[in-house]
Amino acid sequence: MVKGNLLYEGKAKSVYETDDPGLLLVYFKDDATAANGAKHGVIPGKGVVNNKLSAFFFKQLKDRGIKSHFVETVGEREMLVKRLDMIKLEIVVRNIVAGSLVGRLGLPEGTPLNVPVIEYDYKSDELGDPMLNRWHIMAIDVATIDEVNRIEHVALSVNTILRDILRAKNVDLIDFKLEFGRDVSGDGEVLLADEISPDNCRFWDVVTHEKLDKDRFRNDMGGVEEAYQEMLRRLTL
Ligand code: ADP
Ligand code: TMP
Repeated sequence: MVKGNLLYEGKAKSVYETDDPGLLLVYFKDDATAANGAKHGVIPGKGVVNNKLSAFFFKQLKDRGIKSHFVETVGEREMLVKRLDMIKLEIVVRNIVAGSLVGRLGLPEGTPLNVPVIEYDYKSDELGDPMLNRWHIMAIDVATIDEVNRIEHVALSVNTILRDILRAKNVDLIDFKLEFGRDVSGDGEVLLADEISPDNCRFWDVVTHEKLDKDRFRNDMGGVEEAYQEMLRRLTL
């Protein structure tokens, strides 16, 4: 596999073409942003942790029947993935009230939800990633109803699988964000993509409720690097 042109420079990752038109190389950076890009910083070692943790989670999901874009790890900060036609949605699944839901529902952080809650944000930097519902998604052709149904089914399965894996490591899965894309080199099947890491999940220690994720950066709590390393240690050592 030969690394080709830079296709996309994101906030946390860079995406490169390869000599295979169906494959992309994702490079995980240490850069971190929050508050819709208003806050910038660097979390040393984050890229390495997120690459390793994402590979770990994608492999665990594959073993349980959930297909993703992940092909293989090719370096400390790099993974090879299937090139997908990305669906411009961020799919958030919540088990416990935290983050933006605190103000929206007027409930204290840490309140358990009776059922997992699915939310959609429209991936649009210009609009500031506004929240959508499935009617908006269909009305403006972001995805079809069949795709939305598939995404919800997979997102809830991912939730169940990750919750169990994390619980065994004394971590509660509070909420997380997924992205999906269409496998246009095949039959257009919707596959799980992007990453699964402390950048896009909320992880709390089961006993102490210590935060082991990017909220430590978002909320200037300190111990950010240590939290990422602790998650890697718990999951993979
Ligand atoms: P952002 O776009 O929010 O700055 P990143 O820094 O994480 O995000 O950049 C990674 C980009 O790569 C995202 O836009 C994501 O949608 C996209 N992406 C993730 N997986 C794939 C894939 N398999 N094929 C094509 N694009 C992908
Ligand atoms: P929120 O509580 O800020 O809406 O975030 C919900 C979850 O989604 C949380 O795990 C963080 C993740 N997330 C992202 O990965 N990217 C984003 O741009 C946002 C807003 C949230």
